[in-house]
Amino acid sequence: MNTIQTQDSLTGRERENLLRKLKQAQHDFGYVSKDMMTETAQSLGLSIGEVYGITTFYSFLSVRPLGKFVIRICKSIPCYMQNAEMIIACVADEIGIKPGETTGDGKFSFELTNCIGACDIAPAMLINHQVYGQLTPGKIAEILRGCE
Ligand code: FES
Repeated sequence: MNTIQTQDSLTGRERENLLRKLKQAQHDFGYVSKDMMTETAQSLGLSIGEVYGITTFYSFLSVRPLGKFVIRICKSIPCYMQNAEMIIACVADEIGIKPGETTGDGKFSFELTNCIGACDIAPAMLINHQVYGQLTPGKIAEILRGCE
């Protein structure tokens, strides 16, 4: 009989403990540093690869310091069909960086993400924990001006 094996070698409990520690680090420091990943791996008896894999899988965790305002634009199909590409280009123009970058002054980080659960108001984005939808270039400019 064949068995299906997943690449995920962590048990439910290990994953739960790991996510708790990573979320705490993200909350306390704004990202999960290499040292924090090493320390977490040692304390939970996991490999660095397992910790790194989980850290980079979740979009709410970051392995680099992020800006004061983290802009996450949804790139999933429903938002794509509602001109998310235009919104991405508009944000890039407004703040002068591309997805995956942080402005030199540390004010904005710009990320693309999968569905944020706001498909009914596509195209949508998050700035930190606030959801914005039915985005247009005019709305983008107004929202970004409000980021102080
Ligand atoms: S597809 Fe964009 S919020 Fe769901």
